[in-house]
Amino acid sequence: MDLTTTYLGLKLKNPLVASPSPLSEKVENIQRLEQEGIAAVVMYSLFEEQIIHESLELDHYLSRGTETFAEALSYLPNVGKYTLAPDVYIETIAKAKKAVNIPVIGSLNGVSSGGWIHYAKKIQDAGADALELNIYFLPTDLNLTSSELEDNYVKLVSDVRAEISIPLAVKLSPFFTALPNLARRLVNAGANGLVLFNRFYQPDFNLGTLEVAPHLVLSTSQELRLPLRWIAILYGKLQADLALTTGVHTAGDVLKAVMAGASVAMTASALLKQGAGVIPTILNGIEAWMTEHEYESIQQMKGSMSQGAVAEPAAFERANYMKELGSYNLHFR
Ligand SMILES: Cc1cc2nc3c(=O)[nH]c(=O)nc-3n(C[C@H](O)[C@H](O)[C@H](O)COP(=O)(O)O)c2cc1C
Repeated sequence: MDLTTTYLGLKLKNPLVASPSPLSEKVENIQRLEQEGIAAVVMYSLFEEQIIHESLELDHYLSRGTETFAEALSYLPNVGKYTLAPDVYIETIAKAKKAVNIPVIGSLNGVSSGGWIHYAKKIQDAGADALELNIYFLPTDLNLTSSELEDNYVKLVSDVRAEISIPLAVKLSPFFTALPNLARRLVNAGANGLVLFNRFYQPDFNLGTLEVAPHLVLSTSQELRLPLRWIAILYGKLQADLALTTGVHTAGDVLKAVMAGASVAMTASALLKQGAGVIPTILNGIEAWMTEHEYESIQQMKGSMSQGAVAEPAAFERANYMKELGSYNLHFR
């Protein structure tokens, strides 16, 4: 049974990849993921805010007594638990590269072009096999247009591309008015892969304290369908690999991702909920399904359910929406 796949030019032993999460903060955890059979690990992200924070602190030490420091820092959000210093991040990548044989992909998380992106080169120099750039921006300004926003995305990708020679993947949110066009622009700007999709964490209201409270809920397989549809639509249309993230919990989820056209399926919630033991369960499940359905390789099924390959391409479009609403069996009491 051939489970191998290629992602960002990297030959992987299977299509299951660990998505960024606190698990990769520790090299022992990365080793454990490798032992259980994961094909590659994307490191937790180094955030633009952390890098800027550190360089502001440095400025402060170099020009002690200025009043700008406290003021400047007050603009920066509290990055919470993700406070490992940028240098520690780089060291962790270097250590992980020495400790495991699977590819290690670095992750930068930011929104603006600027000095902080030099860390892309540092991540490359630490030995990372590729870089994932997570652009997580939530527009709240009524004056900002979608084309300005998209131009910023494209600029950031081409600036990061100019810093490094290793493959670059871009992790996106699903909230774009014309995703296929943006996807093509990002690929033209130098992205070798697109990671669909970033999972947006919605704040909740605490009715006891009347505060807006962060409330991280891990995903379920139900959430697979959003990235599945878009991977199926984009497959074969771009000179880039596609990675599916969000809702990958079972062997069936990975099989669907590959059939839609993903080179890899990435998982975080399943690892956090069930531990590393879920990896062999998923991989064995993939092999069992392939044996039962007489598939010999992952490559053979890749994109077989993409929009370009299915008998009814409209199933991914508006026609499906009407059909689905119409298919609801109403039992009103
Ligand atoms: C606790 C936690 C931390 C995460 N940290 C990062 C991160 O640093 N960078 C990133 O790109 N994604 C991060 N993610 C998002 C995951 O990598 C993944 O894309 C998302 O959770 C959807 O996949 P899932 O359904 O398998 O959880 C994090 C997710 C969780 C739950």
